[in-house]
Amino acid sequence: MIIKTAEFIKSSAKIDQCPKGDLPEYAFIGRSNVGKSSLINMLTGFSKLAMTSAKPGKTALINHFLINEKWYLVDLPGYGYAKRNKGQRLQFQKMIDYYITQREQMTNLFILVDARLEPQNIDLEFIHKMGEYGVPFSIVMTKIDKLKKGQLQESIKKYKEKLLETWEDLPPFFLTSATTKNGKEEILGYIENINTTIK
Ligand code: GTP
Ligand code: MG
Repeated sequence: MIIKTAEFIKSSAKIDQCPKGDLPEYAFIGRSNVGKSSLINMLTGFSKLAMTSAKPGKTALINHFLINEKWYLVDLPGYGYAKRNKGQRLQFQKMIDYYITQREQMTNLFILVDARLEPQNIDLEFIHKMGEYGVPFSIVMTKIDKLKKGQLQESIKKYKEKLLETWEDLPPFFLTSATTKNGKEEILGYIENINTTIK
């Protein structure tokens, strides 16, 4: 798919502030600093579209980016950011949960996990919760440029084994790097496919 236009529309604190209309949207979630905003920039080819930072906790609102005037990419705040206090963390969790479960336009959730880490409980719990909610999701490994081939294969294997302890089938699984642009065509092709089927 060719991205001709990518436009920041707005930041929202609640779903009733999100853009009106029925265009499909694809949202990105995962721990703070996993690379959600960087992935959005990589996919669109506009490197300064979503704000990124080496410090976790950068994205604090629901951000809508209109792509080719037909569908949205949605950048969400990360979960599990330790520097937020308990009350703030709960508030973020509520905002994210509410968006994911109540926003009818939300067509697919990309759950990002860091390729360098062992499967993390916080991610596994989140993935299981999405399965229980019946939310359509895929898993995206990020920062694969940081691993050697063998290490990456090992990491993928561990993740899949872990998921298969709970689930009979695996969700779609993408390998990405915002640095080398790995996974770009795969994710855009996946989105394009869904967009054509729901038209
Ligand atoms: P929050 O908004 O804080 O939740 O973080 P985020 O998930 O949006 O992460 P962000 O995209 O801001 O990236 C965090 C850091 O990881 C930045 O320093 C990025 O440059 C770096 N980063 C993101 N993706 C990659 C990648 O694929 N490879 C490498 N090497 N670094 C990456
Ligand atoms: Mg971000």
